[in-house]
Amino acid sequence: PAPGWATEADVVVVGSGVAGLTVALRCAAAGAKVTVVTKARLDDGSTRWAQGGIAAALGEGDTPEQHLDDTLVAGAGLCDERAVRTLVTEGPEAVRRLIATGARFDADDDTGEILLTREGGHHRRRIAHAGGDATGAEISRALVEAVRTAGIDTVENALVLDLLKDGSGRAAGVTLHVMGEGRRDGVGAVRAGAVVLATGGMGQIFSATTNPAVSTGDGVALALRAGAEVSDLEFVQFHPTVLWLGPEAEGQQPLVSEAVRGEGAHLVDADGVRFMQGQHELAELAPRDIVAKGITRRMQERGAEHMYLDARHFGARMWERRFPTILAACRAHGIDPVTEPIPVAPAAHYASGGVRTDLRGRTTVPGLYACGEVACTGVHGANRLASNSLLEGLVFAERIAEDITAAADGSARPAAAAERPGPDEAAPHGAPLLASEARYEIQHIMTHGAGVLRSAESLARAADRLERVHDDAAAQLRRDGKTAEPGVETWEATNLHLVARVLVAAAQRREETRGCHWREDRPARDDAAWRRHLLVTLRPDGA
Ligand code: SIN
Repeated sequence: PAPGWATEADVVVVGSGVAGLTVALRCAAAGAKVTVVTKARLDDGSTRWAQGGIAAALGEGDTPEQHLDDTLVAGAGLCDERAVRTLVTEGPEAVRRLIATGARFDADDDTGEILLTREGGHHRRRIAHAGGDATGAEISRALVEAVRTAGIDTVENALVLDLLKDGSGRAAGVTLHVMGEGRRDGVGAVRAGAVVLATGGMGQIFSATTNPAVSTGDGVALALRAGAEVSDLEFVQFHPTVLWLGPEAEGQQPLVSEAVRGEGAHLVDADGVRFMQGQHELAELAPRDIVAKGITRRMQERGAEHMYLDARHFGARMWERRFPTILAACRAHGIDPVTEPIPVAPAAHYASGGVRTDLRGRTTVPGLYACGEVACTGVHGANRLASNSLLEGLVFAERIAEDITAAADGSARPAAAAERPGPDEAAPHGAPLLASEARYEIQHIMTHGAGVLRSAESLARAADRLERVHDDAAAQLRRDGKTAEPGVETWEATNLHLVARVLVAAAQRREETRGCHWREDRPARDDAAWRRHLLVTLRPDGA
């Protein structure tokens, strides 16, 4: 669509979680003119919902090397060791800078030392937390406040549509659909020579997820349409313990943090048996994929729809002090964790793959960066280690800001220098716009065909049904000469569909079980054939 308005900046940051706002702050501090665009309000992304915390080797006796070891084990042979080393060695300092920016972590009253907890896959206490179990909310508060104080230009309620490129194929800005933001309303453009995607995840491709409604894979979809390389999309992490709200529950579901297990809660079946014991040396604190599989297997054996997390032994005081958010969420749904076990089941939580980047966050399209969940930096491999995501957002945001602001050739100050492409030079769309209701169909298809348990058959069925969703829209276009009305919901449905298609294709190709990709028909890990990544680019015709 043709932009009705345009604005210019040196850097446009798309997304306002820990990754986006950190890039924005660091670029602005270096003197760049930054515009942050975000789909809802500045604090509406996934960061705000993070409970457990942020992992870094901050504790006595802990070292980046041990953090590296745990990350590599969780990643099941597919982590990029250089990226992990960068994460764990630069992590502690990045957390200290976050504290200097204003985030307040829980600390010991007497010594002032940051309190650290454990989560799945960590052999040490190394998770810093805030407000007990409201770490993301505190980080978001601090960063939003800092962005406002710094006077950084922000556009809220802005869904990013496509990448603008200059004549040489370099990123030159983005087009947006904005609602209710005064002079910058409707379809418009922000022109900038550095574009940073920090749009978060894609949990909304599944029926039940811990992700907020805004997590619809917009960044990955934009990057694909712009010709960028995407990697590891088949590795969707399912969080093991999400509050089970009944078989019909849809959309965002309340998370019950791994930190609850880190503090000693037990996973039990309806008979009170601790079924993770004997399955892994860390039992309930095994890496997340192992616990999610353990729960799912036990559910199958028992014909049950959920298992239980038992933390009655914490007592009321500890629940109120340490996990106030989770306590309130459970009680709001009629469950009192102080007196009864919590019903839990796995739900889609995190995209370990995304837009492929190098160690400075650069994608394969010049001038286009990706940071946070939308990116695939190589730190997560086939399965992200708990609480490494906020850290990844922080560490790589700083690297991106450094890369942009240090660009010696002036390419980081491009608005004036960039050629001004017309809207029709934006990346091709390649697919008809889908009706907003397609979202629910896609979620249903993905949950049944490409969820925790996958097989060649379930994936083929999902691929077929996704193809039909596309074909129906294409037939409507041929018949009526128009597709669904352009708008946020129809663009979101179209993005969800594109990302789901690519994810299913990758899951079909990877004929093994590894990390959070679990193929029932190929239950073994096959290092000889599959210790490698699947890279995807979209052809201009959308295939
Ligand atoms: C949690 O608190 O369990 C979530 C932590 C994470 O996803 O890293």
